[in-house]
Amino acid sequence: MNRPTDTGTALVDRFGRLHTYLRVSVTDRCNYRCTYCMPAEGHVWLPRNEVLSHEEIVRIVTVMAGSGLRRVRLTGGEPLLRRGITSLVAAIAAVPGIDDVSMTTNAHGLAELAGPLAAAGLHRVNISVDSLDPARFARLTRGGQLGAVLAGVRAAHEAGLGPIKLNMVVMRGENDDEITSMAAACLPGGLLAGAEETVLRYIEYMPFAGRWHENVPAGEIRERLRAAGHLEVDAGDLPGVGPATRERWTPAPRESAPGASAPSVRVGFIAPLTEHFCARCNRLRLLVDGHLRTCLGYESTPSLRDVLRGGATDDALLAAIADIVSGKPAGHLAETEGGTAFEGVMTSIGG
Ligand code: 5AD
Ligand code: SF4
Repeated sequence: MNRPTDTGTALVDRFGRLHTYLRVSVTDRCNYRCTYCMPAEGHVWLPRNEVLSHEEIVRIVTVMAGSGLRRVRLTGGEPLLRRGITSLVAAIAAVPGIDDVSMTTNAHGLAELAGPLAAAGLHRVNISVDSLDPARFARLTRGGQLGAVLAGVRAAHEAGLGPIKLNMVVMRGENDDEITSMAAACLPGGLLAGAEETVLRYIEYMPFAGRWHENVPAGEIRERLRAAGHLEVDAGDLPGVGPATRERWTPAPRESAPGASAPSVRVGFIAPLTEHFCARCNRLRLLVDGHLRTCLGYESTPSLRDVLRGGATDDALLAAIADIVSGKPAGHLAETEGGTAFEGVMTSIGG
């Protein structure tokens, strides 16, 4: 039963899933235009007064934290473009009950901001890197600069924003030839490595209307890693349990380095299409306009922004949230072979 006044159950849905994790999209803008995320022309940005203010975000987080929310991830668009992002991080990190604040970023602006964000209370970052070839990177992101991103990754390592997780969306014919080289770059001493372990996550491309890259199933990515080394389940514990699997890849030893101890890299697969994880989904998404998405594929009504701006008390706000959570569907409908496309634009959903 979902009684809104009972703060212990407000974030439990009909299927018994407790929601301890909120992704907050803090802006729909991005300085990149990744082909899988956004149309080339960008999209129509929301006017500022339709975007949740810092105070509104913090209020929603505070009310949810009273009902079991523990972890917040800031996403976008590109969250570093949000004005005052450092003070927003500090305010969220200060909410009683919130013990983990993280961010998903393209890292373009991270060389400058990693230190201030860590000082403000940001714990970890996930960084999108889909190619290590500068020309290809620029093409896939429509103008992104790999050099800036690598500098951002280094700064994140230096600021202690780890364990750093790198996201690679795998698209057939676009970057699937970099499956093993990306993992190799995360090995100790590699281009993407730091003092602390770097984790690489392979993400199955999700079909959004109008963008139909070909999905490479996680099973096939694993086969390619096995062909070039050894892949095993990794039982080790890392903060940030989520939809990603925990595995470890050890590349086959090079003939040029006989006898050297074999370095390995932690990898994970986020396979929303072929191994979907809806049954253990613990996440909610607060969109930039205040809509609370309980599932990638579905939009909620009403917008929490309208509830807040209508003068709702904390109890009424929590009741509205509980109502939305209780309507969470069992799972999404997208299928591997060009099934139902997700609606909306990824850049305003935040991945
Ligand atoms: N399929 C899979 N992942 C996506 N992302 C954005 N668009 C897609 C998509 N169509 C994810 C990427 C990126 C994060 C911001 O969102 O992993 O790192
Ligand atoms: Fe921007 Fe990330 Fe979308 Fe790329 S995937 S356009 S970096 S929000």
